[in-house]
Amino acid sequence: MQVYIDDREFPEKAQALAKRLQLPILTECDFRKKEDALLTWQTPKKSEYLQLSLLPPDSGVISIDFFGGKKAHRRQFGGGKGQPLVRAMGSVENGQPSIFDATAGMGGDAFVLASLGFKVHMNERSSIIAALLDDALQRAQLMADNGELDRESMQILQNLSLSHGDSAQVISEFARQGVRFDSIYLDPMYPHKKKKAATKKEMATFQKLLGPDMDSSHLLESALQHANYRVAVKRPKGAEPIAHSVQPSTAIESPNTRYDIYSIKALIASGSLQQNR
Ligand SMILES: C[S@@+](CC[C@H](N)C(=O)[O-])C[C@H]1O[C@@H](n2cnc3c(N)ncnc32)[C@H](O)[C@@H]1O
Repeated sequence: MQVYIDDREFPEKAQALAKRLQLPILTECDFRKKEDALLTWQTPKKSEYLQLSLLPPDSGVISIDFFGGKKAHRRQFGGGKGQPLVRAMGSVENGQPSIFDATAGMGGDAFVLASLGFKVHMNERSSIIAALLDDALQRAQLMADNGELDRESMQILQNLSLSHGDSAQVISEFARQGVRFDSIYLDPMYPHKKKKAATKKEMATFQKLLGPDMDSSHLLESALQHANYRVAVKRPKGAEPIAHSVQPSTAIESPNTRYDIYSIKALIASGSLQQNR
């Protein structure tokens, strides 16, 4: 799937984004093929803020809005600290663990964790998804600057940060600079079955855009080298753990999902990980 940047309404913004993402702009192409997608700016209903949006050929608009729509709903009704995702992050002596979300995607899990008080650094390798996340954070900051975010939302925003690149490299780069995270979270793409049509279409777009995450076991190895405390990997219920070389220390189950937990202390004690990583 080729993604074009829409330069019809905001040519300067479009040129800058095209340069940053190394993507062609719409007026440079003679025609749009059926399978192509468009990155454009839209102002959704009930909002006065421009939103970077991906328009795929065969599903609805894909964009990220941390303080409206679905995510606000998930914050309000999405379960508290007892939910499996939160338990998977564990707890450290001096409070809540700092989290590196190595597969940020649309930021859904990161947002839930940030809304429960965790400091979450999101990293995403798709430059297009990272641009959507960056747009959502910048828009939220603009809303904060305009006095339109309540205190709770401001706190959530402060708990979130973002970088772009391959997480295996980004984690090592952080470590070289002396920054280590307590818990590293991995949620690689897996085939989704029995989903509602709308979700299926969005998932199909992601599969076309990103392809399967074939290097998850390499990412896990890198995470194990750099996490202070644990690595948690989200898997579909009944699926194999993502690596054969090292087994999870324990798992947290929920109806459709399992979180494989790799405890650094336990892996060092069993000799599966070296003390001097
Ligand atoms: C299933 S989605 C994650 C969904 C996310 N947890 C959420 O709540 O929205 C997986 C994402 O991880 C990203 N990803 C996979 N491997 C990665 C890696 N090595 N480094 C950075 N991002 C990666 C993919 O590009 C994709 O966007």
